[in-house]
Amino acid sequence: MSTNVRTPLMAANWKMHLSVAEAVSFIAKLHEIVGTPQDREVLIAPPFTHLWPLREAMTAAGFSLSAQNCHWERQGAFTGEVSLTMIQETGCRYVIVGHSERRHIFGESDAWIGLKTAAALVHGVVPIVCIGEKIEEREAGLTEEVLRRQLTAGVEGVSLQDPNRLVIAYEPVWAIGTGKTATPQQAQEAHAFVRQWLAKRFDKAVANGVRILYGGSVKPDNVDDLMAQPDIDGALVGGASLQVTSFARIVQFTRSVKNG
Ligand code: 13P
Repeated sequence: MSTNVRTPLMAANWKMHLSVAEAVSFIAKLHEIVGTPQDREVLIAPPFTHLWPLREAMTAAGFSLSAQNCHWERQGAFTGEVSLTMIQETGCRYVIVGHSERRHIFGESDAWIGLKTAAALVHGVVPIVCIGEKIEEREAGLTEEVLRRQLTAGVEGVSLQDPNRLVIAYEPVWAIGTGKTATPQQAQEAHAFVRQWLAKRFDKAVANGVRILYGGSVKPDNVDDLMAQPDIDGALVGGASLQVTSFARIVQFTRSVKNG
């Protein structure tokens, strides 16, 4: 499938790491190393408390800010939750939805993830919808079934004309934080499956435009091979995004052979 229309999205998911002071100096240093790339998008998803303090530096650097989670209601008695109105107010263009840690540690259901995706789209915040199978599901040959179920719950109900309004992140649970990366071939197969699903649910133009990120032990030494796959449009990086030189190298991936 043609990939030329999709701007690579290189995303740092900081999870519950780094102080505000560390984050400010990270962004300054990252900008010093990578500048403001024109041919790829740089995204950082820090903890909620860092969104406001980082807003100006992120805008000045030309990087995109993302929240790591959201609630789907505008406001209400939801102690500890943050709404999309609040997230949007901080200058976030993106929000991560349904990360595997939300699903598996905090018990988020497929249905909640669908509500969050729909609410993000209503608020004009681009949802990065995370999907991915567990190791026992892969070994049982259920990968596509799991991805289909998660896509159906997360994305089926939304209406989408502009492919830039949605990002999907394929993050096999067994590759997150384990040092075990999916092989470029395994990742490509899953990404191609997701793109076919998008073509069936929406249309070919939408499917060709939606960016599908790979996440799970992305490192400076495997990013180039992953990004060489025709349906891998970026990376969602955890551990290796916490060191500025390592994330800068990931941002500066080189795509040697790209079919299509
Ligand atoms: P690691 O890069 O640490 O495996 O984490 C991946 C991830 O969960 C990104 O969202």
